[in-house]
Amino acid sequence: MPVTDFERYPLLFGPSPVHLLDRLSGHLGGARIWAKREDCNSGLAFGGNKTRKLEYLIPDALRQGADTLVSIGGVQSNHTRQVAAAAAKAGLRAVLVQESWVDWPDEANDKVGNILLSRVMGADVRLVRAGFGIGFKDSWHQALEDVRAAGGTPYAIPAGASGHPLGGLGFAHWAFELEQQERELGVFFDTIVVCSVTGSTQAGMIAGFAGQDRPRRVLGIDASAKIAETRAQVEKIARHTAELIGLGRDLRDDEVTVLEGWAGDAYGIPVQSTLDAIRLTGRLEGMIIDPVYEGKSMAGLIDLVRSGDIPKSSNVLYAHLGGQPALNAYSSLFH
Ligand SMILES: Cc1ncc(COP(=O)(O)O)c(C=O)c1O
Repeated sequence: MPVTDFERYPLLFGPSPVHLLDRLSGHLGGARIWAKREDCNSGLAFGGNKTRKLEYLIPDALRQGADTLVSIGGVQSNHTRQVAAAAAKAGLRAVLVQESWVDWPDEANDKVGNILLSRVMGADVRLVRAGFGIGFKDSWHQALEDVRAAGGTPYAIPAGASGHPLGGLGFAHWAFELEQQERELGVFFDTIVVCSVTGSTQAGMIAGFAGQDRPRRVLGIDASAKIAETRAQVEKIARHTAELIGLGRDLRDDEVTVLEGWAGDAYGIPVQSTLDAIRLTGRLEGMIIDPVYEGKSMAGLIDLVRSGDIPKSSNVLYAHLGGQPALNAYSSLFH
């Protein structure tokens, strides 16, 4: 069925804003660069890409009679913070398993930013020592079991909501929303730049755009430093979502592009190009991006515009997926 027919639990303000980054465009001297802002898509705990995805999961949770959302992420997970906010808004509880995905030495890492916000919102936050990975973990099964043992009904949301069958719908709808905004603005975005880690953001976009008349490039920038896994994940979710929204054809391989080169050696650890991108975007546009995700995709965009890979004639759209609260755990980089 078309993406517009799926039930949504309203968490967003409405369509997220789209605007020109004119000073950044002028500075780079290439394509015109625009941003679509998931970081201010909602009044719930600073929003972000998961808030959009969760609009499709909450109705399913409510249908199943769940009273507790159970999810998992790193210590500074934006995703779990948004699960906590969505749970609060929907009158549910949240249990969040926060694993040590990032070996980051800041002593405030497990106290500030996202994890602080989740605690403020009343989530049951559980710190667990386990490395980076987006699969299903023992600690997560334990959390589900604990909810059941206490007489509750858990609703399981995998990392980034990406392994969830409905995880791609939020950004399939984003593609639909963008087409309408393009009509209002009189612009066509021939190139989209988006950060990819668990995959359902880019995958949803690909599925959504695949049903539109004008082709465009969706360039995923890997921020996990595990390019093969990211690409496989995006491809799998894109195909599943395309089927779900009744695309009526198989996706072609050339519709799935995930690029490496800006993640550095490890998820969650910024490199020089990440920090340069954060500073440049902040100085020229007053737009804040984070060192884990958006700083890496912006570094990719900057290089692709500078090299002419994204040509001067392009209108390129940077999907700002949120994530700024994590900056609080990286303050030492900006002293
Ligand atoms: C701010 C931010 N940008 C990008 C991403 C990547 O999105 P996805 O996991 O859907 O690939 C995430 C979450 O993982 C995020 O929190």
